[in-house]
Amino acid sequence: MPNHRIALIPGDGIGTEVLPAARQVLDTVAARHGITFAYDEFDWSCERYLREGSMMPDDGLAQIKDHDAILLGAVGYPGVPDHVSLWGLLIPIRRSFRQYVNLRPVRVFEGVASPLRNAAPGEVDFVVVRENVEGEYSEIGGRMNRGFPDEMAVQEAVFTRAGINRVLDYAFGLAARRGGRLTSATKSNGIVHTLPFWDELVNERAQYHPKVVWDQEHIDALAAKFVLEPSRYDVVVGSNLFGDILSDLAAAVAGSIGIAPAANLNPEREFPSMFEPVHGSAPDIAGRGIANPLGAIWSASMMLDHLGHPAAAADITDAIAAVLAKTSARTPDLGGSAGTAEFTEKLLELL
Ligand code: NAD
Ligand code: IPM
Ligand code: MN
Repeated sequence: MPNHRIALIPGDGIGTEVLPAARQVLDTVAARHGITFAYDEFDWSCERYLREGSMMPDDGLAQIKDHDAILLGAVGYPGVPDHVSLWGLLIPIRRSFRQYVNLRPVRVFEGVASPLRNAAPGEVDFVVVRENVEGEYSEIGGRMNRGFPDEMAVQEAVFTRAGINRVLDYAFGLAARRGGRLTSATKSNGIVHTLPFWDELVNERAQYHPKVVWDQEHIDALAAKFVLEPSRYDVVVGSNLFGDILSDLAAAVAGSIGIAPAANLNPEREFPSMFEPVHGSAPDIAGRGIANPLGAIWSASMMLDHLGHPAAAADITDAIAAVLAKTSARTPDLGGSAGTAEFTEKLLELL
């Protein structure tokens, strides 16, 4: 009997190119560690939407809720409005499965040129913890008077005590297991109503995590410091939108958005967690076989860790570090000329 049942959702664009690479790496590592996977692949995507009128079937969530984990490529493609593809697949999975922590590690690897002069390999190693189910990404709001002079758009941000506390506790706990430092991303200077509330709760939760040294920084200043001094950070916690923006910025600091992984976690394990690269479907390079597979491969490593196989997970991150440090194989986003398949082959040789 397989140890784990995995739902694979390649999705759109380069999602369908990087996910097979991740699966190849996963299978190689799994074989070595005596782990077996049973995969169920789902064609849920913009292509399905254009064919059948929905991103996934009506009972889609029920079809994957008993899997041990979900591995996703990316969703979204020109021709289907983003709000359709995202509200039709990605966001319902995150919300319905209470994946309220989005964990996004950042490392500058040896052999990768960060665009920043103060980002030396090995020195930048932090994690963005993004609140993943509420905040600025609420379903409350609307567009009115389209095309008329009184046109307007309204969006409510929903911040709840329970929702903030649980992600803060996760972030404080993670900081305690790592370098002992937590930075909270805020905008508490009286302009935005929700963030002074967030700050109060950070203060409150800090009492329960006395070993963690924490501070808060305004999101605008924090963005500048990610560029100027990225090695200062250990764990950075932020709301849904702040965490989204910070994680792409951090990925660029680390050399390419193509490397960055994400774990959408349901820490209580009531539902499957979902693992996916931070990047999207990249229509500008899709279909050319040149996407960087490392974000998806690193996400697969996070999945192994979550499923209780830390040694197998570490084999993958070690192989990522090795392929970058010891070979000149690189996809174009990292300044090389290798394709997805060739780069993945090189990594497999080092496993
Ligand atoms: P994107 O991440 O798809 O692309 C941004 C830029 O980064 C592009 O120039 C792209 O070529 C490059 N890039 C991204 N991943 C790469 C990789 N692995 N290797 C090399 N280069 C890479 O973001 P976008 O252009 O804002 O969005 C495109 C589509 O993807 C939209 O429909 C958007 O809604 C969707 N999207 C989905 C997810 C998701 O499924 N989680 C995440 C972000 C964006
Ligand atoms: C991400 C993406 C999504 C987000 C979009 C596509 C809705 O940018 O996973 O970071 O903002 O959560
Ligand atoms: Mn994003």
